[in-house]
Amino acid sequence: MTTFKEFQAKYTPIINDFLEGQLAKESDDPRFAEIMAYSVMAGGKRLRPLLFLATLDALGVEITEKEVQAACGIELIHTYSLIHDDLPAMDNDDYRRGELTSHKKWGEAEAILAGDALQPLGIQWIAQAEHNWKLVEIITEAVGPKGMVAGQYLDIDTTNNEDSSEEVIDHMEWLKTGCLILASVQMATALAACPDQQAQKYLAFAKHFGRSYQLYDDLVDIVESQEEAGKATHKDQEVGKNNSLTMLGAEATRNELKQLIEKGKADLAGEKAEVLLGFLDLYQKVL
Ligand code: IPE
Ligand code: IPE
Ligand code: MG
Ligand code: MG
Ligand code: MG
Repeated sequence: MTTFKEFQAKYTPIINDFLEGQLAKESDDPRFAEIMAYSVMAGGKRLRPLLFLATLDALGVEITEKEVQAACGIELIHTYSLIHDDLPAMDNDDYRRGELTSHKKWGEAEAILAGDALQPLGIQWIAQAEHNWKLVEIITEAVGPKGMVAGQYLDIDTTNNEDSSEEVIDHMEWLKTGCLILASVQMATALAACPDQQAQKYLAFAKHFGRSYQLYDDLVDIVESQEEAGKATHKDQEVGKNNSLTMLGAEATRNELKQLIEKGKADLAGEKAEVLLGFLDLYQKVL
């Protein structure tokens, strides 16, 4: 039996090596290649590629270089979303993954373009790795105007907006963060072509984990220091963000997170999914 920590220790360097090696070849302009790689290689937990690979592993699919490439494609798309999320017009942040944000380091136009490049490149890596249009459909739907971008729009629209309802905030948090997490698992169930009944268990887990991850991120904002988080914290309330935490308070948010953890565990009962269950342990530091 492999634990989450063992899986993470094995695959994080494999993911990082692929990202670094491949990204260097993806622009004819060495400076632009450096700008793209800067944000991707600054660190990051590699949660979404690990989730994709761990689901494949649980479903008995062998992990070869092409699965690693598809996993890294997801990470490129996630990193694009962080670069754009940090821009002055969005959350206006100076630090990300323990380093200066892309626009602080290289300039605003450069950061916008790095994000613009990483998004299609991520899709390209997924398409070229697996030749499976279903995976492309899953990822593009998850990050488009009915997914992550819709969530980011609602985030901006509800900031300093007293009319924001709990329902809208819940939906916003699902869209901006949950959708890409669900897609990471759904891509793996599609690739594994497992029976529908089995796939439903993994998708139920991914929905609960995807929703819980933004609750966790909202708690990180009040629990961690900037050094621990690698990004500015103690900030959401101050800048008028309406999120689950600022609306419901820390205690209610922790209770909801605990309930989602229990649901996530129940979803995978009977599956050989110890590694996936280990993702839920990430939350211990904010509970
Ligand atoms: C941060 O994501 C932004 C959210 C969508 C909540 P992560 O917490 O996965 O950030 P990295 O990838 O480890 O930097
Ligand atoms: C980010 O949410 C969600 C996406 C990037 C899609 P946040 O704005 O809360 O993430 P952090 O706190 O800056 O990492
Ligand atoms: Mg944001
Ligand atoms: Mg932000
Ligand atoms: Mg946040």
